[in-house]
Amino acid sequence: MFVRRIAVVGTGYVGLTTGACLASLGHRVECADVDALKVNRLRAGQVDILEPGLAELVARGRATGGLTFVEGARGAVADAEVVFLCLPTPMGAGGAADLGAVEAVAREIRDVLPRDAVVVCKSTVPVGTSVRLAALLGREDVAVVSNPEFLREGSAVHDFLHPDRVVVGSDSPRAAERVAALFAGLGAPTVLMDAASAEMVKYAANCFLAMKLSYVNAVAELCELVGADVTSVTEGMGHDRRIGQAFLKPGPGWGGSCLPKDAHAMLRVADAVGVDFPLLRATVETNARQQRRVVDKVRRAVGALAGARIGVLGLVFKAGTNDLRDSPALAVAELLALEGAELVAHDPQVDRPLPGMTVVDDPYAAVRGADAVVLLTEWPEFRALDWARVAALMAGSTVLDTRNHLDPDALLRAGLVLDGTGRVHRV
Ligand code: UGA
Repeated sequence: MFVRRIAVVGTGYVGLTTGACLASLGHRVECADVDALKVNRLRAGQVDILEPGLAELVARGRATGGLTFVEGARGAVADAEVVFLCLPTPMGAGGAADLGAVEAVAREIRDVLPRDAVVVCKSTVPVGTSVRLAALLGREDVAVVSNPEFLREGSAVHDFLHPDRVVVGSDSPRAAERVAALFAGLGAPTVLMDAASAEMVKYAANCFLAMKLSYVNAVAELCELVGADVTSVTEGMGHDRRIGQAFLKPGPGWGGSCLPKDAHAMLRVADAVGVDFPLLRATVETNARQQRRVVDKVRRAVGALAGARIGVLGLVFKAGTNDLRDSPALAVAELLALEGAELVAHDPQVDRPLPGMTVVDDPYAAVRGADAVVLLTEWPEFRALDWARVAALMAGSTVLDTRNHLDPDALLRAGLVLDGTGRVHRV
């Protein structure tokens, strides 16, 4: 009754999304994790990751029996035709990707993989990892395939089911075709290639996106100085189909668990083969500068940061997630705290204490008595705030909107001073 028997090792947002979506396509999927608590929660239908549609897909998979959970990789792979590795590859020594988790699982499963199984690496890994994995597995009959993921946090299910493309790379064309067939129902262009190229696609794509954002953030800085409006500039640019409208919004810098890690890892890859990559280095440096620029603006608004009370709106790296990893919002807040600012922060998805600031569960409590307010994450609820109430609560009057997310007219009517990114609309 099921099309294929699949194991997914790792139940983070990539693994769980992959497992739940493949089950929804008619496959029999067993997801494994080392974390027994997580496995038990998933077995009980509890999904802790904030991804629209994911909890529903997990519930459906559990109901049909197409999606099950098990502790430890060995149990999941013993019966699988295809095994997806969706394991973290965090930034390790010197910026290189740490392959510890991927390699440990390869060692763990090598003697229980059924004959002719295919091992698919979905984790973002340096070029050459597929070859290394094949050597580690040491199984002539087991092929390794690279199938990088392009899922954005906060829209992972949508991105999985409606991909722009599916990339499948292997030095075994037969294995690549077996894996590509799993996604056939999605109707997306499928690009088959060798393993090294598929591994490269992921880094090249994420670093290109990071570069696009650093470019836009630098253009925004120029706009402020020459009196242009970056929103109009990017709209004018984006209609050129070679550029496109997407990924052109300036902000407090790019972050999250992927772009910064992959930019550093790509620099390490270049370094390892003796190539200087000044474009990518500048992309990373421009991002750090963008965070400092936000701090400079807040300092200008309040005179001196030491002892100033700053209301912080948003802490997660982008709206629609509950992820604080490598969040530019958090980095800016830390820089402000370092200079002695007193921070009161609110984020709809953060309810735990954080060092250097007071986290409150109400946006109005965050702005009360603030000398300035800085918006760092583009939560829709921030647009809907009662700005007259905010103005009455604040001690100062400047609102720094790093994402150009707020309605300038609403702030103007409230008598506030709005300072955006790349636009001059002091009102
Ligand atoms: C990113 C890629 O977009 C995915 O394609 C990829 O699969 C994923 O990394 C990954 O490697 O797993 P994600 O980290 O979820 O996805 O976040 P993005 O939506 O790409 O945003 C990254 C950062 O750029 C965020 O801090 C966001 O606020 C910022 N951003 C994004 C902007 O400042 N402006 C924009 O116009 C877009």
